[in-house]
Amino acid sequence: MTSHIMPTYNRLPITFDRGEGAWLFDEKNNRYLDALSGIAVCNLGHAHPAIQHAICEQSKKLIHTSNLYGIPGQELLADKLTEKSGMDNVFFCNSGAEANEAAIKLARKYGHEKGIENPAIIVMEKSFHGRTLATLSATGNSKVQYGFTPLVEGFVRVPYNNIKAVEIALAQNKNIVAILVEPIQGEGGINIPAPLYINDLRKLCDQFDLLLMLDEIQTGIGRTGKFLAFQHNDIIPDVCTLAKALGNGVPIGACLARGKAAELLSSGSHGSTFGGNPLACSAALAVLATLDEQNLIKSATQKGELIRLGLGEHLKNNNHVVDIRNKGLMIGIELDSPCAELIKLALQQHLLINVTNETTIRLLPPLIIDDQQIELLVETLSGIINNYTEQTA
Ligand SMILES: Cc1ncc(COP(=O)(O)O)c(C=O)c1O
Repeated sequence: MTSHIMPTYNRLPITFDRGEGAWLFDEKNNRYLDALSGIAVCNLGHAHPAIQHAICEQSKKLIHTSNLYGIPGQELLADKLTEKSGMDNVFFCNSGAEANEAAIKLARKYGHEKGIENPAIIVMEKSFHGRTLATLSATGNSKVQYGFTPLVEGFVRVPYNNIKAVEIALAQNKNIVAILVEPIQGEGGINIPAPLYINDLRKLCDQFDLLLMLDEIQTGIGRTGKFLAFQHNDIIPDVCTLAKALGNGVPIGACLARGKAAELLSSGSHGSTFGGNPLACSAALAVLATLDEQNLIKSATQKGELIRLGLGEHLKNNNHVVDIRNKGLMIGIELDSPCAELIKLALQQHLLINVTNETTIRLLPPLIIDDQQIELLVETLSGIINNYTEQTA
């Protein structure tokens, strides 16, 4: 049958009917272990009772009013997010790209207020910030930009995890007003920078009066073993963007700002019809409460360690494995050649994984994954990798 959906996705030959925790079930009730969480969205797993309860109860009262009126759940969510992050205020939207659009607007406004007519933002090679025109222009992947020129101006690109390159860019361009960066690159291949990279960027931002804008859309909400990844570095950014796991599947994005960045927008300067509506905020409030109650963020560190050590043990004799790296439950297994085929091979074994940057297997399992599921994940995946590299070698 002809599909009437625009062919923007290369879909796998599977559909799911329901989920339960780390499991997804197809229409014939076959069970699949989800080691991807809808790409870092369902951090609490599927059909979590607390989220079900929150959105059912909220939907009985109100789904949407408008940002023309007060929204108590949105106020409460902003209180919790600022308390947990150390930021000052929040703009709510519906997706990661929109959260980054808000950040880009903040940077431009900051520049204009400093008298810079053509403000520019430093962005990184191999970054991913979204698919809207500004965010695809900020993204460091020519495939994402292909066919969509002219790109939005005002981005200066440097290699990731390279402070010297940032210093050179700053010396060459007096229009730079901000740095937009992922604390760990997700789409770019689970690239974990040097431990003090983000601290050094913070120092440069202080020195040059720039906004440090962290895209925590993939790393945030407990994924790396802290509520936000920058909390590993003991610094605080000026702007921080969230989406994905904030609503555990109910669309919600947020752009958090602090200090001078929190004072840039005024009434009428930005907005969103749906952003922060009562339903989305009820889901996000339930996410935050559940993460705390179940001590899930702390457990992400220990679970990530178990997975990395397990994979390390099973793959230790496989010399096609270049690296196994993780921060909490953000895990990359880099092979020495392109391995996208592994996604289908894993699916055949009822395991959901992903491959980024062609050679890196990406695992983003839900934070509620248990020890037995971890064992199953490690054994199944290492078996698949070992078989695959043996046959393709
Ligand atoms: C780091 C990062 N930023 C931004 C985005 C874009 O988010 P969305 O698809 O919700 O617009 C993503 C999505 O993968 C992401 O990983």
